[in-house]
Order: sequence, then structure tokens, then C-alpha cells
Amino acid sequence: MTDDLKRQAAEAAIEFVEDGMKLGLGTGSTASWFVKLLGEKVRAGVNVVGVPTSEATAKLAQDEGIALTSLDEIDRLDLTVDGADEIGPDLALIKGGGGALLREKIVAAASARMLVIADAGKHVENLGAFPLPIEVVRFGKKASERAVAELISELGLSAELAWRIRGGELFATDEGHVIIDASFGLIPDPEALARGLSEIPGVVEHGLFLDLAETALIATPEGVKRLT
Ligand code: 5RP
Repeated sequence: MTDDLKRQAAEAAIEFVEDGMKLGLGTGSTASWFVKLLGEKVRAGVNVVGVPTSEATAKLAQDEGIALTSLDEIDRLDLTVDGADEIGPDLALIKGGGGALLREKIVAAASARMLVIADAGKHVENLGAFPLPIEVVRFGKKASERAVAELISELGLSAELAWRIRGGELFATDEGHVIIDASFGLIPDPEALARGLSEIPGVVEHGLFLDLAETALIATPEGVKRLT
């Protein structure tokens, strides 16, 4: 059912694609549906070029026959289509459940428009039930963790911090960094938290995507809702 809804959101996003567009290609199961459907469009003769937000998406796009480029070769993207872990008020997002938040944010910021696609379960009244990914460099990672914990307490919040583990090892992002997942339950002021996290030297990026998404396509059992 959820996978069906993810596909429906991706189908609705395909309608936004025009010939000649430069596209940011998101990461995750919902974004993968979009890449697969884009592959069909490309094989039908539509000419686009994509910038993938992860090695996994790059591989999928290549398998689908989608031409790829990088942000070093072009200056601006027309549209980025990506999933999200949570979509809150004002299209504020939590992203990074798949660990691609850094490249995802760089690509979204380089795009004229960011379109978010998701199943209805991702649409929430307040952000924070999904653990917030915080990407840190390996050097001094414990000091970064302490700085994150201090910030959280200075903001009057509480959160459980957990290093992301895969296969018994620290999960490594495509850029070789590691991730702290911060379980808040509720993030009452995402802007203040985002500002504070960005000021910590070892924090490369965090999964709060504020003022980046322009439109969200949310697939519900009753149809796809468009939020702007
Ligand atoms: C990856 C992401 C994904 O967009 C997010 O985790 C949603 O994934 P899915 O579509 O599989 O639920 O931010 O870093």
C-alpha cells in the first residue's frame, strides 16, 4: 500500500518534467520510483540530464539510461525531485533517513525548484517524531556529539543521540562522514535548532530542510494532494 502511494506521488511528479530540463535526482524508495518513471520518459524520447544525490541514485539512473552530470559542469538545476522522512508546516522537512542529506541539500539549494514526493504517512503536524540525522566529520566526532548535546540542552530541549550503525560498523555517508540520529519526539522551533547545529564546527550538515521545498505531492488513498 505505502509503496503504491510512493509510486503515485512519483507519477504526479513526472508531470512536472519538461524536455531539456536539468534535474536533481533524490535518494530513497520514493525518489527511486521517480527515477524509474523518468527512465521510461527518457526511453520515450524526452531529453533531460540529471544530477544524482547519492551513489545509489547514480547507479539506478545509469541503469535507466538517464544522462548524468554534476554541479561542477552546470550552474543551475531547473527542478529537484526528492522524498522526505517528514513534511511539516511550511513544507519544512526532515531528510536523511537514507543518509544522503548532504548531497541532497546541496542539490536542492542549487535548484530553481524543489518538489517533494511522499506517501501520506510522512505528512505531520510538527517535525520531530522521526530522528533528525546530523552528519559529522570523523575527526573529533565525540567532541561534535558533546557540542550537539550542549546545544540541545541550551535550547531547553531533550533528545536521545545515537550513532547510526550499519552491519556492526558506523554508517558511512557517500562523503565518508558519520551520522548521529537525534530523537527529539518534537522539534518546537526548527529554525533555532538548524541555526545552532550549523554553528558547530564538526557538523557538516543536518536533516532540517527549511525554506527549500516549493511544492509537495502527497499521495493519499483518496488521491495526490498538492501543497505549496
Ligand atoms: C534520504 C532521504 C529520503 O528522501 C528519505 O529518507 C525518504 O526515503 P523513502 O522515500 O525511502 O521513505 O532523505 O537521505
